[in-house]
Amino acid sequence: MNNILKANQLSKTFNAKTIPINAVKEVNIKIHEGEITVLTGRSGSGKSTLLHLLAGLEQKTSGTIFYKNQSYDDLNSKKLTELRRSDMGFVYQFHYLLNELTAIENVSLPLLMNNFEKKEALEKSKEILNTLGLSHRFSHKPSEMSGGEKQRVAIARSMVHSPSLVILDEPTGDLDSKTSLDVIESLKNYVKDIKSSLLIATHDENFKEISDQTLIMDSGII
Ligand SMILES: Nc1ncnc2c1ncn2[C@@H]1O[C@H](COP(=O)(O)OP(=O)(O)O)[C@@H](O)[C@H]1O
Ligand SMILES: [Mg+2]
Repeated sequence: MNNILKANQLSKTFNAKTIPINAVKEVNIKIHEGEITVLTGRSGSGKSTLLHLLAGLEQKTSGTIFYKNQSYDDLNSKKLTELRRSDMGFVYQFHYLLNELTAIENVSLPLLMNNFEKKEALEKSKEILNTLGLSHRFSHKPSEMSGGEKQRVAIARSMVHSPSLVILDEPTGDLDSKTSLDVIESLKNYVKDIKSSLLIATHDENFKEISDQTLIMDSGII
């Protein structure tokens, strides 16, 4: 099976004022094409740091990361940004939506950045918001939405451009159990359609059911 993403001996040390923090320690990981990988582990175990490294959002201390067999070390920052924009999606633990834009406009952004026509971008955005149960919030701004609704808008934005890999950091953290189940079900169906791989850091037991690979992180180690 093809790997979308592979990391070898990946480490990250934060140089804190007193003692350095080894947040990620010699991690080896493979994300297969079309599969869902679930990453669990208690708070502070290094999950968010690992996801940021894998998305190229944070500089590693050592190790290698390959995206579709290409090492990040061989990409300059412009190429890496381009790769992320066109072929990756990311949901931050604290979903960053643009406050002055509506739900549809927020979701359209990745499409507009990838040169879609505005009309098509809006259509596609409506479609995915619909799938995630947000047809009643198309033209609302983040300040007018609940935490769970904002989280679903962030999820929609991360995958509207059908990227090969979507990385989600605790995507159902703000959702009640029933809504979380609904979102997980629609996520599963949606990624099956667009054939994306998912990497999800979560404490949500509901993800177990759709997981192809479950990894446990403990003090920076998998
Ligand atoms: N920017 C940073 N600077 C210094 N330490 C950090 C930074 N980000 C995370 N850490 C530390 O790295 C460890 C792992 O954090 P994190 O990756 O956020 O874990 P998790 O997502 O599993 O809760 C923690 O000890 C945290 O304090
Ligand atoms: Mg985290």
